[in-house]
Amino acid sequence: MSIAELVNADVFADMVAMRRDLHRHPELSWQEERTAGKICARLEALGIPFRRGVAGFGVVADIPGRNRGRVIALRADMDALPVKEETELPFSSSVDGVMHACGHDGHTSMLLGAAALLAQDDDLPATVRLIFQPAEETGRGARAMIEAHALDDVAMIFGGHLDRHYAPGMIAVTDGVVNASSDKFSIEITGQGGHAARPHESVDAVVVGSLMVMAIQTIVSREVNPSHPSVISVGRFDAGTASNVIAGGARLEGSIRAQDARVREHLHTAVRRVAESVAKLHGAAVHVDIDFGTPVLTNHPEVTELARRAARQAVGDEHVCAMTTANMGGEDFSYYLEEVPGCYVRFGGQIPGKENFPAHSSKFDFDEAALRAGAAYYYHIAKAAGEEANAK
Ligand code: NI
Repeated sequence: MSIAELVNADVFADMVAMRRDLHRHPELSWQEERTAGKICARLEALGIPFRRGVAGFGVVADIPGRNRGRVIALRADMDALPVKEETELPFSSSVDGVMHACGHDGHTSMLLGAAALLAQDDDLPATVRLIFQPAEETGRGARAMIEAHALDDVAMIFGGHLDRHYAPGMIAVTDGVVNASSDKFSIEITGQGGHAARPHESVDAVVVGSLMVMAIQTIVSREVNPSHPSVISVGRFDAGTASNVIAGGARLEGSIRAQDARVREHLHTAVRRVAESVAKLHGAAVHVDIDFGTPVLTNHPEVTELARRAARQAVGDEHVCAMTTANMGGEDFSYYLEEVPGCYVRFGGQIPGKENFPAHSSKFDFDEAALRAGAAYYYHIAKAAGEEANAK
């Protein structure tokens, strides 16, 4: 069956309408109440039983298959970002300062489109579980869903993200790492404040902090194997009150990204070591905090092959590719993959002939043709993975 026959005009129109409605009414992480309501109403219309209020406003729905003991999970995220929209789209956000700037409106819509296709199919090999997850942007939603038993009995899990680097209708299926780990750190420096004219009576926290920022730059460039992509960025430096006062304290905040678990561990240790050494060198006190975020997202090899075949079935060989560049962004789908085998793909969302703004930008948008590819892919992978799970 061709993709236009599978995802027919009605299913596509429903997805577009849903996407635009969600886009117009974005909700921040842990506040996705209206979004969950829309999802539940749609599931109800499709006759799919669901459990709502899972880990906040999460929704979990099972479409029973021939083998009820085997479950294949498909996951979409639901939350928006604290961004003021500047797209000038007719269905722009009606909530000031909140925007679907990462395409999660699209992810939810394409999974609902897949739900419509799967609900009509009376020959599903295994049960398909739809997971509508809140709070992806905090990096905490997936774990909360797992704790609320969303993954119970799941044999394999699949998900995906819109991506402006690929044409609409394309699906990028990648072996190995798809997303980097994403951790935060903060460094609190305590020096000795004083008069700008008499530096010898002080321990200048601005100077100590500046040296730390520069020393941290050498961790990735001098300590990490260049074939392992990694990043440490200091995004915030707070210090001082006046031009003629030496700052007694400073606070740095930053982000640590890695595509390898051992490199990640090394970066954590190194940030701590560099901060403590520089502080000691200048007689300042320091406190370093490292906040573990999402782990590296690594696709499982066999399941990725299955996903590639399903993507080809969905959109045709010529529309399936692999990611061309390393993605240093984080994604909390990685927590599911620590529990069960699965694969995370990218859905081409590039708008032809237009400037394509990055995710999290106030001008982010995607080509809605991506919804069709996403729904078709989820339909095919749910069936193929169901067969595979039954055969085991
Ligand atoms: Ni996202």
